[in-house]
Amino acid sequence: MVRLSAFAVCLVELLVHASSYCTAFDDAGCSGQSVVRDSSIWKAAPDKYDQPGGPEGLTTMTQLNNIIMGHAATQIILAGSQLGLFEFLHENGPQTKGTIEEALGLKRSDGSTRPIEVLLLGSTSIGLTVLDKREKTYRNCEIIDRLFTTGGWRSIADLIDLEAIIKYKGEFHFVESLRKDTNVGLQEWPGAADNLYSRLPQTPGAQKIFYDLMNSFTAFSIPCLSNTSKVAATSFKLLDVGGGAAVAAIHLAKKFQQLSITLWDQHETIEIPMNHITKAGLKGRISLLAGSFITDPFPEAGSHDAVLLSHQAVIWSKSVLLMIFKLLVRMCHIRLDYNGCTLFQTVCV
Ligand SMILES: C[S@@+](CC[C@H](N)C(=O)[O-])C[C@H]1O[C@@H](n2cnc3c(N)ncnc32)[C@H](O)[C@@H]1O
Ligand SMILES: *[C@@H]1O[C@H](CO)[C@@H](O)[C@H](O)[C@H]1NC(C)=O
Repeated sequence: MVRLSAFAVCLVELLVHASSYCTAFDDAGCSGQSVVRDSSIWKAAPDKYDQPGGPEGLTTMTQLNNIIMGHAATQIILAGSQLGLFEFLHENGPQTKGTIEEALGLKRSDGSTRPIEVLLLGSTSIGLTVLDKREKTYRNCEIIDRLFTTGGWRSIADLIDLEAIIKYKGEFHFVESLRKDTNVGLQEWPGAADNLYSRLPQTPGAQKIFYDLMNSFTAFSIPCLSNTSKVAATSFKLLDVGGGAAVAAIHLAKKFQQLSITLWDQHETIEIPMNHITKAGLKGRISLLAGSFITDPFPEAGSHDAVLLSHQAVIWSKSVLLMIFKLLVRMCHIRLDYNGCTLFQTVCV
């Protein structure tokens, strides 16, 4: 298990509340093409307490089976996304097995139709695609087609990648993680660092998957904070703790002209915000501090008059959070913002 898991739980809640998407970043950032034209799609998502089985828990073997086979479902939706099944069916409407096989590049010189059959059997049995038995054609299920038409698919594809590629690996060690109260799944990732963020760069493509999703997520939450935060509107020197790809910092710097920002993130990841800040022409207003807020000293007292913790509170244990908060209180006068944002993880002090 890795530290990213609490974050994904929150993402589901976020998608329910969210109404706009990041469009500004296209490398190691928001994949860029997502503009949600109809946000009601998120509101159609079930409430977090309205899960199958209801408050009494599960009642059927099918529901139980869906949980036991969850690993297969995750990989089937990943295959449908990465091989372009859903995109192809959205663009072309109902199609036969043979046409889909050809379009997805699954046609085999030995004539075996097993790959396309396994994929379509899997995707249809879990309801991602629908088979018209008379016409012998497959189409997307309704929600996937609606995601394409409303512009939300790109972010869902980013979420699928994060879950099925990055987080999936560590899941195998979940039981052991519970027994040992530590992130045993980290051993799946090459490197020596004690956290996944610092190990991701050593696996080609992995860091991009993480930040693509993260940035969509933050592009949702930061407009709410910036619209309502008195602290952000009246501060001059803001420390962005674990500022990631600088989606929040760039948004705040553009909106509040008086603000200069220090973005603090780990050595291994600092190049990502650097590129975005340079592109945004904000090098003079946003500076970078490379290092760890767990092991390195905090900036000196009085150097900043505000702190942003965006999507940090969900990651850390209570003891780490207490330590961070104590050091932050020591560093600057705290004015806690109760800004009414439902995007709970973004704290501005
Ligand atoms: C969930 S992301 C949030 C990024 C950003 N604040 C946002 O809202 O988009 C967490 C970030 O914290 C950084 N981080 C994690 N541990 C850190 C540490 N000990 N010191 C500095 N940054 C850290 C990660 O590199 C990552 O960019
Ligand atoms: C923030 O304010 C802008 C400008 O008034 C508005 O267009 C946007 O919808 C607001 N967003 C949120 C999430 O409050």
